[in-house]
Amino acid sequence: MSKLSGKNILITGASQGLGREIALRFAREGAAGLSLVARHADQLNKVRDEIRKIAPKIDIVVIEADVSKSRDIERMVATTLAQFKGNLDVLVNNASTIGPSPMPNLLDYPVEDFREVIDTNLIGPFLLIKNALPAMIERGGSIINVTSDAGQVGYPGWGAYGISKFGLEGMSQTWASELEETGVRVNWVDPGNMNTAMHRAAEPEEDPSEWANPAEVTDVFVFLASDESRDVTGKRFQAQEDWKAKLSHNERKGHEGIEN
Ligand SMILES: NC(=O)c1ccc[n+]([C@@H]2O[C@H](COP(=O)([O-])OP(=O)(O)OC[C@H]3O[C@@H](n4cnc5c(N)ncnc54)[C@H](OP(=O)(O)O)[C@@H]3O)[C@@H](O)[C@H]2O)c1
Repeated sequence: MSKLSGKNILITGASQGLGREIALRFAREGAAGLSLVARHADQLNKVRDEIRKIAPKIDIVVIEADVSKSRDIERMVATTLAQFKGNLDVLVNNASTIGPSPMPNLLDYPVEDFREVIDTNLIGPFLLIKNALPAMIERGGSIINVTSDAGQVGYPGWGAYGISKFGLEGMSQTWASELEETGVRVNWVDPGNMNTAMHRAAEPEEDPSEWANPAEVTDVFVFLASDESRDVTGKRFQAQEDWKAKLSHNERKGHEGIEN
């Protein structure tokens, strides 16, 4: 049986970069339904067409919506649940913004830009989880939040983005512990450096060929979306490290996380 057989999955930021690769991989792994969200439907429609070539029978809904807007979040969850007859198994909070490029230091950071980054990268996932949770509790679902090493280290210039990811990691821990008895698991993944539009905008002076193709980091997302991870919650994963070895080592030792 396919790893994601029967699973209905909502992915934000599915039109390009990592979100697109997660969507394509989930389709290959036999997902029953995919709800693809981003602000530009034209790009999403291209991803939908690619997926249909891989998995002609998959149930796909494309939703043009902005995760920084609470009304859009209500609509994206309602549309997803209508499409999947009330059943949602997996939520991937992947959409993010880096903020202004070049990235200003905090002293020079315009407050409106700071708010937009926090609304998109932190409040958006908070509201998505809140709205999707009642449907997910029914089936013991999986929430996967996409973080960054900038959510653990205060790098100069990565201000609002890093702060939003620090918040996302803290929020993920809190959701995981509050939901422990419900059967809904919450984990978060740092995909590591990838060659995507976001990273090229953040570090235009760097050589993007040194960064991973986002298609190479999707294994951990399949694991977390599948029933294989049904007992795994409250953990941080680094997609480009040997997360499988760390996971089994720390579970043997009874540790809480799988970090160094
Ligand atoms: N690239 C890296 O090296 C790296 C490293 C660590 C962590 N990450 C994390 O990985 C995730 C994916 O990043 P990426 O590099 O793949 O970025 P990307 O190529 O810029 O893609 C971002 C996606 O999010 C969507 N999006 C942005 N703002 C949105 C909004 N307000 N509402 C709805 N959708 C929105 C974009 O589509 P629209 O523009 O059409 O909305 C796009 O589909 C992010 O959480 C990022 O923080 C990336």
